[in-house]
Amino acid sequence: MLIAPNWNIMNISEIRNNYLLHQLTEENAGADPIALFLKWLAEAIDSQVPEPTALVLSTVGENCKPSSRVVLLKGCEEGEFRFFTNYQSSKGRQIEKRPFGSMVFHWKELERQVRIEGTINKLSSPESDEYFDSRPIESRIGAIVSPQSEVIESRDVIERMFEMKVKELGGSELIQRPEHWGGYALKPDIIEFWQGRASRMHDRLRFRLDSGQWIRERLAP
Ligand SMILES: Cc1cc2nc3c(=O)[nH]c(=O)nc-3n(C[C@H](O)[C@H](O)[C@H](O)COP(=O)(O)O)c2cc1C
Repeated sequence: MLIAPNWNIMNISEIRNNYLLHQLTEENAGADPIALFLKWLAEAIDSQVPEPTALVLSTVGENCKPSSRVVLLKGCEEGEFRFFTNYQSSKGRQIEKRPFGSMVFHWKELERQVRIEGTINKLSSPESDEYFDSRPIESRIGAIVSPQSEVIESRDVIERMFEMKVKELGGSELIQRPEHWGGYALKPDIIEFWQGRASRMHDRLRFRLDSGQWIRERLAP
């Protein structure tokens, strides 16, 4: 039986928030977008935002069709944004053909959004190994047995594969990273910071890379 929610979905256009928490000025932004990103991420973590490292990653598929999904940021090293996945997944195949991506972080409790665009490259094998080896055993087994993004007949199929792998290991935790799983790093050329403000007069500062230098520009909300 379908239970009707006690609010009227037709009224969602009337849901409105006024954003009053913070301001983004040229002075508090500074000149280095990576430093500003790390500051905002630290503030999101300190504010106990749920899943502060979750981002929407968009990649480009066949016929230039965009495709988006959530992944977790696992590092920001040398100004690049790292995440891990199955290289044979839908996103992995798309990145292989068109190595471009866009990331969006939404820290709604802080009324903030960060948009990042750039080029994506695979991490080196030792870098992927290092992160793979740091994962809990169950996650490592999951990465091995799940043919991410493939059609499967039922949930049972992967549960059986998981159990078989657990049995095969017989309590050992010595598992090697499979070739088909590893990390990517997005090298940004655009990073935009959005801070919600009152009356929809939001702050937007965009940094774009020009001949190796970050140019900071204010955009209309
Ligand atoms: C909160 C959250 C975190 C996720 N983190 C990852 C991740 O780090 N890596 C990953 O491959 N998928 C992650 N996923 C699953 C992806 O959203 C997606 O279902 C999966 O990667 C397959 O995407 P694809 O078919 O476009 O390749 C996450 C999903 C959610 C909701």
